Amino acid sequence: MEKAWFYKEYGPKEVLQLGDFPLPTPQHNQLLVHVRAAALNPIDSKRRQQSIFPSDFPVVPGCDMAGVVVSKGSGVVKFNIGDEVYGNIQDFNAEGKLKQLGTLAEFTVVEEHLVAIKPKNLSFEEAASLPLAAQTAIEGFKVAGFKEGQTVFVIGGAGGVGSLVVQMAKFLFGASHVVATCSTPKVDFVKNLGADEVVDYTKTRYEDIKDKYDLVYDTIGDSKNSFVVAKDDAPIVDITWPPSYPKAIYSSLTVSGENLEQLRPYLETGKIKPVIDPTGPYYFTDVVEAFRYLETGRARGKVVISLFRPDNVPSLASWESRNNPMAEVISQKMSVNVVY
Ligand SMILES: NC(=O)c1ccc[n+]([C@@H]2O[C@H](COP(=O)([O-])OP(=O)(O)OC[C@H]3O[C@@H](n4cnc5c(N)ncnc54)[C@H](OP(=O)(O)O)[C@@H]3O)[C@@H](O)[C@H]2O)c1
Repeated sequence: MEKAWFYKEYGPKEVLQLGDFPLPTPQHNQLLVHVRAAALNPIDSKRRQQSIFPSDFPVVPGCDMAGVVVSKGSGVVKFNIGDEVYGNIQDFNAEGKLKQLGTLAEFTVVEEHLVAIKPKNLSFEEAASLPLAAQTAIEGFKVAGFKEGQTVFVIGGAGGVGSLVVQMAKFLFGASHVVATCSTPKVDFVKNLGADEVVDYTKTRYEDIKDKYDLVYDTIGDSKNSFVVAKDDAPIVDITWPPSYPKAIYSSLTVSGENLEQLRPYLETGKIKPVIDPTGPYYFTDVVEAFRYLETGRARGKVVISLFRPDNVPSLASWESRNNPMAEVISQKMSVNVVY
């Protein structure tokens, strides 16, 4: 058995319970990952609050994770036991139901094509903060057909997605000028992400902004108002559903390990940095508090969960004491210097 957060009915964060779950067995192309860190996304709250995706109860929430491969299906070719991986385990574009077992658990299973090797310079917490938000951020530039040297106006530069959109605009997609909005306390934070200009939306209206931009990238769903800062015929990308402006292009993430691999050089050189909200990382026991904070809509970067306190990371021996059928496989294949 493993510990996992789960809910048996839709509702507010109070429906979340911490309990025992059967340890999953990886199927043909799947990895069993010992989760070391996870991250929350608004979709985890929305999915818990109402039936937006077909799901079987009980649901273990969580899409993002970073952890260590402890077992794998016979068809896995790219990863080995002991590999440190990260990814978004929920493929929203795939047919059928989302996985019942998410990442707010000690162990989770994921298809190998959805994960990538964790960059060595990132902690598990930093890596877990990235997948879903990064996959979303990249996609918006792609659907807009954004070209190097163009200018971009980011609505909401401080959130989980927005903090990556600002960095990617500047350091991955080569924008010549990046402007982003946020509230007063976050102006310096967004500037430090690489924005050339920050607009405090509590003081400035879109109508008062004179310059027009090659792309308006809306991460908060205000396209019915923000479209006014776009040049004529410039794309307005809105990642919220449904977009409030009829001409806005809705952009949805593509979940894959490949797009995380493409980010690797930028992460390893520090050009793009994970942003963990300073109220975290939260401990696994504090998941309800972490959701409460996420649901204020004021997060600065990503709300991250550490599965284990640094002085209490379970050992391989504690794994075996669970009477886990895979333990023998794991203890044979794990090198002795991999510590859980
Ligand atoms: N289409 C997709 O594939 C996809 C993927 C991921 C997320 N989403 C959606 O995109 C939205 C953002 O996700 P997220 O993870 O970035 O959320 P988040 O981290 O919770 O966003 C919080 C941020 O929003 C900012 N914000 C709120 N109102 C604002 C306003 N009027 N102007 C500027 N900034 C504002 C806040 O900054 P201040 O405190 O400064 O206001 C805060 O930093 C959510 O609705 C989510 O469901 C869609």
